[in-house]
Formats: sequence, C-alpha cells, structure tokens
Amino acid sequence: MQAIIHERFGPPSDVLTIEDVDTPQPGRGEVLVQVRATAVAKGDWLVAHGYPYIARPAYGIRTPKHRIAGLETSGVVEAVGADVTDFQKGDEVFGWTKAGSLAEFVAIPADHLVHKPGGITFEQAAAVPVSGFAALQAVRDAGGVDAGMDVLVIGASGGVGSFAVQIAKALGAEVTGVASTSNVGFVGELGADHVIDYTQESITGSGRRFDVIIDIAGNNSISTLRSALAGRGTAVIVGGSGGKVTMGFGRTLRSMLVSPFVPQRLKAVLSKPNQEDLKVLAGLVESGELIPRVEATYPLAQAAQAIELVGAGKSRGKTVVTI
Ligand SMILES: NC(=O)c1ccc[n+]([C@@H]2O[C@H](COP(=O)([O-])OP(=O)(O)OC[C@H]3O[C@@H](n4cnc5c(N)ncnc54)[C@H](OP(=O)(O)O)[C@@H]3O)[C@@H](O)[C@H]2O)c1
Repeated sequence: MQAIIHERFGPPSDVLTIEDVDTPQPGRGEVLVQVRATAVAKGDWLVAHGYPYIARPAYGIRTPKHRIAGLETSGVVEAVGADVTDFQKGDEVFGWTKAGSLAEFVAIPADHLVHKPGGITFEQAAAVPVSGFAALQAVRDAGGVDAGMDVLVIGASGGVGSFAVQIAKALGAEVTGVASTSNVGFVGELGADHVIDYTQESITGSGRRFDVIIDIAGNNSISTLRSALAGRGTAVIVGGSGGKVTMGFGRTLRSMLVSPFVPQRLKAVLSKPNQEDLKVLAGLVESGELIPRVEATYPLAQAAQAIELVGAGKSRGKTVVTI
C-alpha cells in the first residue's frame, strides 16, 4: 500500500515522503480500515517537527516513534482481528490512531472507532476526532458551558474553533466568535451570534464580560483574558502561539499558577481521545447540531503540503487528505 513515511523530525515537506510499504494486518482487538479520508491539523505539523521539545518523550526522542504519519481517519472496515465484535467487513467507520492513518490501510484498536453517521461524507467524518475532542472537552468539561451562558471563542474559524462554536450553540450558549476579517462570514455561518474581527477590535473592546472564554488561537495575555471575563468566569486555554520548546505552553503554565489566587478560573485543556466522546460527537452530527466544515482537500501525494498549510495557522475549518 502507499503511505506517508516519517523517519526523522523536520519540516513536513522535507521529512514526509510517499512510499510503498506492507499493508498492516489487524491484531487481536484491532480493525483493518481501508482509509477513505484523513484530516490533518496543527498536531500533525508539530509531530513532523517534533515540537514542542517537551513532548519528545511521546513522539520519540531522536527519531519518530511511529513510521507512518496521520492521527485520525474514516473509511471502510476491510477485516477484523480476534475478539472484535462491534464491527464487521464493510462497515463505515471513523476514529483516531496514535499514528499511521495517512495510508491506504490502517489497523486500529476497535475501541478507537465508531460507526460513521449517515448523511456525512468520509471527508467530514475524518475531520471530527482530533478537533472534536479538543472542542468538546474544552467547552463542555473545562468550560462547563450551559444554556444562557455568554461564551467567547477565540480562533473560531479554525479546526477546533469551528467545532467549539457549534458545540457551545448546541449547549444553548450565546456565542461570540473571534476571527480575522475574511473569516467573519464563515464564523457567522457556524452559528455564532456575534463575531469580533480581531484586526479591528480587541476582545475587551465592547466592554462585554463573558462567562466562559475558549482560547484556541492567538496570544492574548492572561490579564487580557481576565479583563474580558465575568467576575467568576472561566477561561480555558486550548492552544496558542509560542517557541519550539513549549509552543505556547508557557501561557498555560502561567494560567495554572495564577488561577488559585484570583476569583476567576483559568484552566488548560489537553484533550484525551476516548470512544465515549466520539459517540457524543457522532450523536451531535446525527442530530444536525454539528456540521464538520471541510474547507480544503488534498490527494495523498500532497499530504506534506497540506500539513505545511495547516501548520501556518491560517486555514479555515478543517483540511482533509482523501485516499
Ligand atoms: N489542547 C489540546 O488538546 C489541543 C487539541 C487540538 C489542537 N490544539 C491546539 O489548538 C490550536 C488551534 O488548532 P486548530 O487545529 O484549530 O488550528 P487551525 O485550524 O490552524 O486554526 C487556527 C485559527 O486561528 C485563527 N487565528 C490566528 N491568529 C489569531 C488571533 N490572533 N486571534 C484569533 N484567531 C486567530 C486563524 O483564523 P484567522 O485566519 O481568522 O485568523 C485560524 O483559523 C493549535 O495551537 C493546536 O496545537 C490543542
């Protein structure tokens, strides 16, 4: 089969190559998926580079732990290993993997998959896991978003943001999204009640105080976030910009140090993939409350280029490689 091979750390276009490799076989408890689509995100760019350095124990210290790139997928079950009872050949599925989905086939533990909802494409299904987990766990769990709350989503036009806006709306919140001028209309289409164009106005500009801020992009200081928060509001840091060592984790650390000493709650999210939440996301898709927004697609041979583009942090919605 063809796969995107990752044998050393560096810029995706230098270190990711398309090669012929052996097709994997499903082990005990695994499902062999014929991949139809694989979404790519900032995480794939970080793994290609081995950034931030503090994450190297997970990625591999000197060389990548996983030879094939790709972290999420959708496709059709080709075969199942021993002890797999929930899936059979021909089922349409989607899910996540530690690595290896930028390939024609991937063997995935059965508990990393769920059935693909009808009514969405393989491209849309592949777009759900990584961004969906981060958005759901930030909005529902860390943010505790509930009906009637005033919620600000910074980075609303991106992969995680496009899910966060829709999930906060599904929970009944009044949502304000933050995006650049060219993405203001897109964030409105996602269902945001208000949009702040950050090239024209700061998040504190309107004087509005939010119950919850989901901070996915940019580099607002902790004090700016606190100024935009209600007296007992919650700020949830999901991502941000920064250097190679911590990639913005410094801001996360500062928020954890400050939080015990202020009335507002400052939290950080490191999303944890799990099948229960994937079922929740599939349910939201099925009910029509969540529409995965795939805004760009690339063939497998251009996977490295797609990862370079999402790494630049200016892509809209989700980017998907079709296989
Ligand atoms: N904590 C976790 O578990 C977790 C999980 C997944 C991702 N992440 C992190 O979350 C971050 C976002 O990931 P993503 O996949 O959503 O990235 P993405 O698709 O590239 O989206 C980033 C968005 O940020 C917007 N943006 C850039 N500068 C901004 C600014 N100053 N203010 C507001 N928005 C700005 C861009 O929109 P405009 O063009 O409109 O500016 C872009 O659409 C990354 O740092 C990623 O590593 C964390």
